[in-house]
Amino acid sequence: MDNSVLWQLSYGMYAIGTVDGQRPTGCIVNTVIQITSEKPVIALSMNKNNFTDEAIRRTGRFTVSILSEQTAPNVIACLGFSSGRDMDKFAGDVFHWKLWEGLPIVEEQAAGYLLGEVIAVHSMETHDIILARLQDAKKGEGKNPMTYQYYHDVIKGKAPKNAPTYQAAEKKENTWVCSVCGYIYEGDLSQEPDQWVCPICGMPKSAFVRQ
Ligand SMILES: Cc1cc2nc3c(=O)[nH]c(=O)nc-3n(C[C@H](O)[C@H](O)[C@H](O)COP(=O)(O)O)c2cc1C
Repeated sequence: MDNSVLWQLSYGMYAIGTVDGQRPTGCIVNTVIQITSEKPVIALSMNKNNFTDEAIRRTGRFTVSILSEQTAPNVIACLGFSSGRDMDKFAGDVFHWKLWEGLPIVEEQAAGYLLGEVIAVHSMETHDIILARLQDAKKGEGKNPMTYQYYHDVIKGKAPKNAPTYQAAEKKENTWVCSVCGYIYEGDLSQEPDQWVCPICGMPKSAFVRQ
């Protein structure tokens, strides 16, 4: 079986928002799809180790912020590489967000927003397939929804192991990986000025480790 054929599947980029009690929490996924059009149902694939999975299962509701090409990459760095179990991702002013029907949505040029109520969870080995009935939907300010391919090819971003589409990077000579967001720098990092920072998450050169 040639698993690399799976790389030909297309995806988008989404921020999932929910609450842990009163506290907003959430994460990045690339796996939201529309399943039915009448009384629309959407689905997403959520790693069972993600805190967002726990929180959605408890509250039974979540939002989807459909990220656009104009969305700042630090939204992805903040929501996609650390866990709400260890930190408050919505604290501070890393990105703009607000509550919609009591759940957080990302305001950074999202192309649109969906509000879902969980109707079924199908548990797989590593991931829960969460099915939700659409409760509301509204447009955002962003123009071009960000595809997963754009994230990889233009922003040069990576996905962590919890993403269902994770692929281990090929080892290459002189390759440096950002320990926070997984951004890959190819070449001689020491040639960059001292004030150089990761283009995705803004970490300094010292956060990079040789692959
Ligand atoms: C580009 C990208 C795509 C991702 N796609 C998914 C996904 O589809 N499903 C998933 O469970 N996690 C996905 N992740 C990983 C989660 O966002 C990540 O594990 C996050 O730290 C979970 O945070 P939490 O523990 O607060 O829920 C993705 C991350 C990135 C950066």
